[in-house]
Amino acid sequence: MRNRILILDFGSQFTQLIARRIREERVYCEIHPPTVSLDWIREWAPRGVVLSGGPSSVYDEGVAKADPGIVELGIPVLGICYGMQLVAQMSGARVVPGRREYGRAELLVEDPDALFDGFAAGERATVWASHGDHVQVAPDGFRSLASTADLAVAAFCAVDRPIYGVMFHPEVAHTPRGDEIISNFLFRICECVPDWTAGSFIDEGVQRIRDQVGDAVVICGLSGGVDSSVAAALVHRSIEDRLTCIFVDTGLLRKGERESVERTFRRHLGIRLVVVDARERFLSRLRGVEDPELKRRTIGEVFIRVFEESAAGAGNARFLVQGTLYPDVIESVSVRGPSAVIKTHHNVGGLPDDMRFELVEPLRELFKDEVRQVGRELGLPEELVGRHPFPGPGLAIRVLGEVTEERLAVLRDADAIYLEEIQAAGLYDDIWQAFAVLLPVRSVGVMGDARTYENVVALRAVTSRDGMTADWFPFPPDVLGRISSRIINEVPGVNRVCYDVSSKPPATIEWE
Ligand code: XMP
Repeated sequence: MRNRILILDFGSQFTQLIARRIREERVYCEIHPPTVSLDWIREWAPRGVVLSGGPSSVYDEGVAKADPGIVELGIPVLGICYGMQLVAQMSGARVVPGRREYGRAELLVEDPDALFDGFAAGERATVWASHGDHVQVAPDGFRSLASTADLAVAAFCAVDRPIYGVMFHPEVAHTPRGDEIISNFLFRICECVPDWTAGSFIDEGVQRIRDQVGDAVVICGLSGGVDSSVAAALVHRSIEDRLTCIFVDTGLLRKGERESVERTFRRHLGIRLVVVDARERFLSRLRGVEDPELKRRTIGEVFIRVFEESAAGAGNARFLVQGTLYPDVIESVSVRGPSAVIKTHHNVGGLPDDMRFELVEPLRELFKDEVRQVGRELGLPEELVGRHPFPGPGLAIRVLGEVTEERLAVLRDADAIYLEEIQAAGLYDDIWQAFAVLLPVRSVGVMGDARTYENVVALRAVTSRDGMTADWFPFPPDVLGRISSRIINEVPGVNRVCYDVSSKPPATIEWE
């Protein structure tokens, strides 16, 4: 694969966004630490290199820098913010220190060179700028392309080589015409071909999986979520009946979930599927457990045990499929400086590293939205591909306090009504995650002439980009009203429904 872009990550919160924008233009790209050597870059042979922004100043001590030889490789370079300052410094210009400031700015395009193709000279465009250290005068051999009120040089390029810098973020939505700038860099400057599509990924992926596993037997743990489902479907496309999927019914699943997995995988895709009924095992281990972290640990342990036993029963499997995605891979190559990622404290439902299997990770290069496209292309139903995330410990962390079969049943019914009404209102895809929570308190109500003393259900719905931060979703009042009256009328044992209006932080998405 030669038609690809290299992104060197200097720690900007937007580095992943740069990669996603490039992929949206159907060009493959990867994020790597800035410490990669020039030889490595030559060998990797990108069509172009993007130097990301970063939180540092080029004058900070021990700060990550790229090898200055990078601008001599004959490969086009685009430096963004900190990346532009690096280019300037490598090229002998003085970077003027200043206070860091982010914000909307008006860019005046003075020279619509290839990078600003489609803009007229003198045209103005809104950009999300990153002031701070900046370049006052373009380096020798460079010319300025654009300015803002605060920056004499807001974009520059070398006169004799395709080396560019911009002092704003073309990758963010606050730069409305940023996609044109990125597209110009990819197609006009780097001469890339837009050949990164779900279809081409599947073709290559199928071949790679066949090469990796040969004629060995492979197993895959299905969770019912998007990642493991798409990974399984892709592996099945490659090796058909040598794949066995294992689905553990923990008893902590949502209403109809097990049936839906059976329908999709066994009947619709014809995949060999083992469903393990471990409901009793999980519930008995959870008896008397109230502490959320102990719940997670207990579920994790039982899950590993059950999975190992079932895997042993699935023939002589040598490989295990995992739905690892690109963001997890990037984190693991991070060096000092690159995208600081807050790891979630919980990864229950995962398997330990010391299992005796070799891993097949067919989605390692994909972002979530790409996984969904691949899933659609593989024929997975929309209800699965567009699904909200669901935590490994399942409903156990949504029945607050002790988990019992009765309380799970109440929650399951309330949750199903909630999701059904969200779907009916056409709001499902506007929401990152929506679910019901059963609270460990009872409240007083009246039903006919009688006083009741029953359960309270809390509803949660949030919008989010990645689950790290979230806002509560502003439902139209009539939708909330309908959900509430249906739950109270149809779910025995519930007499009150509340809506959670907390953002994350300081609240979390889940209640436990
Ligand atoms: P919080 O509650 O931390 O959740 O704001 C962020 C995202 O992580 C999911 N989550 C989990 N996923 N095992 C998982 O696999 C867990 O123990 C777990 N706890 C929370 C949560 O649903 C949300 O998407």
